[in-house]
Amino acid sequence: MIDSWKNKVILQQPDWTNKKQLQTILEQIHSYPKLVSKDEIDVLKNHLSDVSQGRGFIIQGGDCAETFSDFSAKMIKNKLKVLLQMSAIIQYITKTNVIKIGRIAGQFFKPRSLDFEKRNNIKLPSYRGDAVNSIKFSNESREHNPKRLLQAYHQSAATMNLIRNLTMGGFTQFNNIDSWNLSPLEKSKYVKKYNAIAKQIQDILTFTQDSEKILPAYINSQNFNTVFTSHEALALDYENVFITSYNNMYYNCSAHMLWIGNRTRFLDSAHIEFVSQIENPIGIKIGPDININDVVELCKKINPNNINGKISFITRLGINYVQEILPKLIDKVKKNKLNVLWLCDPMHGNTITAKRGYKTRNFDTIKTEIEYFFKIHNETGTIPGGLHFELTGDNVTECIGGIKNIKDTDLGQHYQTACDPRLNNEQSLEMGCLIAELLQKRRGLSE
Ligand code: PEP
Ligand code: CO
Repeated sequence: MIDSWKNKVILQQPDWTNKKQLQTILEQIHSYPKLVSKDEIDVLKNHLSDVSQGRGFIIQGGDCAETFSDFSAKMIKNKLKVLLQMSAIIQYITKTNVIKIGRIAGQFFKPRSLDFEKRNNIKLPSYRGDAVNSIKFSNESREHNPKRLLQAYHQSAATMNLIRNLTMGGFTQFNNIDSWNLSPLEKSKYVKKYNAIAKQIQDILTFTQDSEKILPAYINSQNFNTVFTSHEALALDYENVFITSYNNMYYNCSAHMLWIGNRTRFLDSAHIEFVSQIENPIGIKIGPDININDVVELCKKINPNNINGKISFITRLGINYVQEILPKLIDKVKKNKLNVLWLCDPMHGNTITAKRGYKTRNFDTIKTEIEYFFKIHNETGTIPGGLHFELTGDNVTECIGGIKNIKDTDLGQHYQTACDPRLNNEQSLEMGCLIAELLQKRRGLSE
């Protein structure tokens, strides 16, 4: 286990009511099987190294917060499906290898702006993710209960099990694309808007129905089928029990990739210290409040050997700041000759409150931040390596806009998220088409 973070400033931790029980449960989880292996983490590291040098693209996505109630084989399958469909569209259209990373099998802890939530003059601790407390607004539900860690562990393990099953069983292979149901793309609106892409997808659907199912060489179905996992490394006591040491190197075997959120990524924080000690690829969320000078120290601490793909900056600046701040970040990184993999989270800088209090995001705003991300990297000659989304495979109404033009008055129909609004399956597919277009355009520019 890693101790060096324990004497640093630590924010956003649960305040567990029963500390003795916490220790017993942590020891228990420590003795359980780890969720991922060192070898898998190393494979992802190699992929990220390739992507950071322009070979490949990353699609990272999943729930803002996984929950114990929204847990079923069907829901996991739908989530994987949408991640795979987006990736398949991009990979097929752009002939670029797409690395898929779920926000899944461990995304159970949430940082919050306020420690307490008030409703009708009743003040209770804020919801901090299902591994800590329940979203239900009652005294008992909002208690920080360490028993929930066990459930989070078991749900993560069961989710991993299904991911591995689906991978082994061929569900995630490219030539199974017809069984993933890309039918929304056949809808006339899609065909109109993404004419060229829809036509090419049609071709592959017809193509894979041929008995021989021989795929073009650039679609390596062996490579396509892996789905890696990631989550925010927030509750460090929990993360610590997954640390495994190999030849004096520490791997956090709770997920392949871990990221540090915008609220805990300050220099000298316990979180930065913790991830500086581990071998996994690390993402750092960067919001508009970043001190540009800090990025140099962050890289030096987390990636002292300046290895390609080890550190990703997941910029989530929002459309109001991306044009001002992203070029400055890139400039700082370039001037200091730091190797950074550039990802963009176009969700978290663009959250708004709609009528009747729904937290939402507008499809067009998300799209705009993605377009700026590509445009700015094209101008600076740096590599837009991938995108990070909050999405679900189910037909929710949490983000407005998209092909069905969900309006703010529609949000109440299927608003199911425990935390932030997610793209639904159709909105995610549309994003896939959009990203494919942008990558194609980028290739056109560099040719
Ligand atoms: C998140 O990814 O759900 C999150 C809280 O992001 P950020 O740290 O960027 O605000
Ligand atoms: Co979120």
